[in-house]
Amino acid sequence: MNVDFDIDSILARYNFDSSALIQILSDVQDKYGYLPREVLEDISQKIEVSLSKMWGVISFYALFKLKPPAKYNITVCQGTACHVSGAKRNLEYIESKLNLKAGEHSPDGKYSLETVACIGSCALAPTIVINGKVYGRNTVKTIDKLLSRLEEGEKK
Ligand code: FES
Repeated sequence: MNVDFDIDSILARYNFDSSALIQILSDVQDKYGYLPREVLEDISQKIEVSLSKMWGVISFYALFKLKPPAKYNITVCQGTACHVSGAKRNLEYIESKLNLKAGEHSPDGKYSLETVACIGSCALAPTIVINGKVYGRNTVKTIDKLLSRLEEGEKK
């Protein structure tokens, strides 16, 4: 196992109990931003849960990520309030600007693009979230400015 990954403190928190698998995976993801394969193999051995069972759990819950987070995680809300306010147009614009489809990472690891059903900020519809920060009342024009700011940040 990669020495950079230390999961024993997480496993000890749950007494190496396999019934806490979801909490363990959630804590690992909080710590590393995703679920590294080496860590999953280590967990499998230490709490005696087969990798195939773990894959089943991971694929069932959309919150679990198997890839390292991109530098800029962009989430476009597609809930009802956002949908009626132009969310689809905004998503298509971001997809074409970044040459990415929702659910994908850019090959350089710079961007990831996701959709979500509602982020609970419907009064600001249509919303997008970039690295946890909510941006509301988006249009193609405001999105263009946001994406330009990200690109400018890259040049500094
Ligand atoms: S529907 Fe988009 S924030 Fe609620």
